[in-house]
Amino acid sequence: MPSRSPAFSTSPAFSTSSVLSTPRSFVAWSLAHGLQRRFLHRAAGRGDLMAQLATDPAFYDDPYPSYEKLRSEGRVVRNGFVAGTVDHALANAILRSDQFTSSALGELPGPLQKLHGLVRDADTLSPVDPPSMLVVDPPIHTRYRHLVSRAFTARKIGRMADRVQDVANRLLDDLEQEPTFDLVSRYAAQLPVAVIADLLGVPDDERSQVLGWGNHAAVTLDPGLSWKQYRTAATALREMHAWFDHHLDRLRRAPGDDLLSQVLQDPEAADLTRDELHAIGLLVLGAGFETTVNLIGNAVELLDGHPDQRAWLQENPDGWANAVEEVLRVDAPVQLTVRFALRDTEVAGERIGAGEGVLVYLGGANRDPGVFTDPHEFDVRRANAAEHIGFSAGIHFCLGASLARLEATVALRTLYQRYPDLRVVGRPERRATRVLRGWEYLPVSTLARVSAA
Ligand code: HEM
Repeated sequence: MPSRSPAFSTSPAFSTSSVLSTPRSFVAWSLAHGLQRRFLHRAAGRGDLMAQLATDPAFYDDPYPSYEKLRSEGRVVRNGFVAGTVDHALANAILRSDQFTSSALGELPGPLQKLHGLVRDADTLSPVDPPSMLVVDPPIHTRYRHLVSRAFTARKIGRMADRVQDVANRLLDDLEQEPTFDLVSRYAAQLPVAVIADLLGVPDDERSQVLGWGNHAAVTLDPGLSWKQYRTAATALREMHAWFDHHLDRLRRAPGDDLLSQVLQDPEAADLTRDELHAIGLLVLGAGFETTVNLIGNAVELLDGHPDQRAWLQENPDGWANAVEEVLRVDAPVQLTVRFALRDTEVAGERIGAGEGVLVYLGGANRDPGVFTDPHEFDVRRANAAEHIGFSAGIHFCLGASLARLEATVALRTLYQRYPDLRVVGRPERRATRVLRGWEYLPVSTLARVSAA
């Protein structure tokens, strides 16, 4: 059997001794997750499907049958706490509407929201805590996005193709002597982390540590974390923030040609606070690898179940770009997001009340039969695969979409060129996250014909 990925190890250089179990952090957890967790578990016990999808691996390990059940119940489904949709047109319209916010304002009653603001620890801010770009509205959102989007133009990304190819080649060279390995920890995770670390000026010997923190913090996108999950994630985030202070100081002293050095020297960014700089930098860093790893892993698992399509792609390498779109459609690495109505509104023919939260199931909308013929079929030649909303839509449309597309296309094409007989062997394990969907462990053999015999 291939070996498992190495466990998360704390670098003594950046480690903090905090165990994060103070009364203050317990209150912060109770408000951000504890109350929600109680509600979700109760509702799941009553058979509420959206709560089951949020809490029960029997549902979220394979969410697609549940999405179809939601679809059969209507374009918007409500459980008294939140609404949800798997309708492509409605999801798209909500994501693009300025009548909605991605900020969780209104999730808690006013006084509790205030209390949360007071007990929140700036050193453990996650990608879904303000001032993260993901959860702020214009004009603040426009400002943050403008500061970093220059690095992600299609032209700039196109110029990174050789670098991405070099990383893929080098990772596969290192695996030459290993007929079986864990595709996730040895390849799918390594490629995006190397690319984004390059873009943000992170030295080689700090990348595996950053990957470890990212893996531990990824769970913070999920609702209703347990106290233990929250503490583990908050500890990783605290260490990551401490490391990021050190990284920014280093770039201030000796700027490179990386994105963060550019932001630090940009007069327009001169008045950004420490929290804002951290929110922008750590979001780009984390989003840069915590999602693409899932895209590559999901693709390998899907292609393993469709050897005819894999063979077609090996004969027709120009087809890889569309195959990547089809993977994003049929098994979206980011399964859902949430929006809150700012006022009573009507969107795509549906009424949503002021303050109402809507779970936008991207993975469900991507299988809407009104848009995709035979939506559950995986078809790398599907003509409209790119109509998926796996990268969201509207102002929060994924900043790194072009980079993710490039990385996945190069990673997969190179992998199957080098190892045409690559097969999944052993028993893969899913990541425990619910918003992010992917594999934690995906054992593969490059000599599958031999090992299958
Ligand atoms: C397969 C890979 C990826 C997927 C599926 C993905 C998906 C998404 C989705 C769904 C959102 C929007 C969430 C919402 O609307 O609430 C988003 C936003 C974002 N993504 Fe990605 N992403 C991927 C890769 C990347 C990469 C490689 C980067 C950076 C290099 C990146 C950076 C960002 C940033 C900064 C945002 C926030 C944009 C904003 O709020 O304006 N993502 N991503």
